Amino acid sequence: MRTQVAIIGGGPSGLLLSQLLRTKGIASVVLERRSRDYVLSRIRAGILERGMVGLMRQAGLGERMDKECYVHDGTLIAFDGEEIPIDFKALTGHSVTVYGQTEVTRDLYDAAEADPGRVLTECDEVMPHDLDSDKPYVTFVKDGQTQRIDCDYVAGCDGFHGISRQMIPAEKRREYEKTYPFGWLGILSETPPVHEELIYATSQRGFALCSMRNENLSRYFVQCPMTEKVEEWSDDRFWDELRRRLPAHHAEAMVTGPSIEKGIAPLRSFVCEPMRWGRLFLCGDAAHIVPPTGAKGLNTAASDIHYLFNALVQFYEEADADGLERYSETALTRVWKAERFSWWMTTQLHRFPDQTDFDLRIQRAEMEFLRDSEAAQKVLAENYVGLPY
Ligand code: APR
Ligand code: PHB
Repeated sequence: MRTQVAIIGGGPSGLLLSQLLRTKGIASVVLERRSRDYVLSRIRAGILERGMVGLMRQAGLGERMDKECYVHDGTLIAFDGEEIPIDFKALTGHSVTVYGQTEVTRDLYDAAEADPGRVLTECDEVMPHDLDSDKPYVTFVKDGQTQRIDCDYVAGCDGFHGISRQMIPAEKRREYEKTYPFGWLGILSETPPVHEELIYATSQRGFALCSMRNENLSRYFVQCPMTEKVEEWSDDRFWDELRRRLPAHHAEAMVTGPSIEKGIAPLRSFVCEPMRWGRLFLCGDAAHIVPPTGAKGLNTAASDIHYLFNALVQFYEEADADGLERYSETALTRVWKAERFSWWMTTQLHRFPDQTDFDLRIQRAEMEFLRDSEAAQKVLAENYVGLPY
């Protein structure tokens, strides 16, 4: 087999890159380890920046998203019973879009059905070779048979646990990491959201987030120690804890019901430099992770895809490799800004086990400054709606 771009990983990054390349007549093959159903069963975040919304439309997949999404012009930050409305629209002129990553991925898989062979699922032992030559290739096992795809470039879109990043020799690779001493316990429930906007709440008992997918599907989270077991969290215990962390009138208005999904996820910041080695380009979670507090995971993957897609188009249409040469540097500049914002949101809104009284007063001062300063609100809003590409 031969293609122009071999893409390892069929999550949102890999599928979106493939779909965008298709619009320019550039051939690609996506190799995904899992089944489509498995990928679609993963519940992920639900906030899209305008850049991601634009990429979906550019890929020809805006229709269902535009019909079913919810546009949010602001959010609420709650602390110690107080509320700070952040009006994204007034502060930046932009909004964010509520449309689940699961729906994004479903649209991408559905679109791929038009081109049999463009997305191959259940591929084992995917392995790129000769990435530092001008004739790279990828081998894999599908239906018990070893296959080989020759290509011009390889896009490593295989997430944090993928193989691609490991292909950059250890002495050429630098990894930056921070793990947070807590996780997020999250549920999905078929109940109306407590408020029309998201609520990011900090309280003496820790962080809580009220999010949503639609009018009758809510997504709620509470910060918890990573030592907790999900079996120890009955629905009643979860709802009680969530309500304790919210301003009273929201807690009273909360409609509760059985959870349809429940899980605990760790929080981590991670960046791999560089994001390119020879003919391999890393995108999305394969290269960087953010804690979910700023809703930047999928959106930062999207900006990588934007840069790589445009660089590949420049190469194939104008025989100009400049964008590819600069991909790592360009992508990382924006990645680090998303890392900074996600770290800031996480640090300001969570309780840390080793926090001193001084740290707690600084956190409160941050919140009071945010409440009283339009400039501070603008900084938050500008980052939350997404920095320009
Ligand atoms: N071979 C083939 N596929 C692989 C391999 C491998 N060795 N390792 C991992 N994969 C697949 C995974 O099964 C997964 O479907 O790569 C895909 C990576 O998808 P994601 O982890 O979703 O990463 P990405 O596409 O970069 O999406 C960006 O945004 O909201 C965040 O973290 C969230 O997943 C999200 C991310
Ligand atoms: C979600 O709805 O899953 C969600 C929203 C905002 C975040 C994180 C997760 O910051």
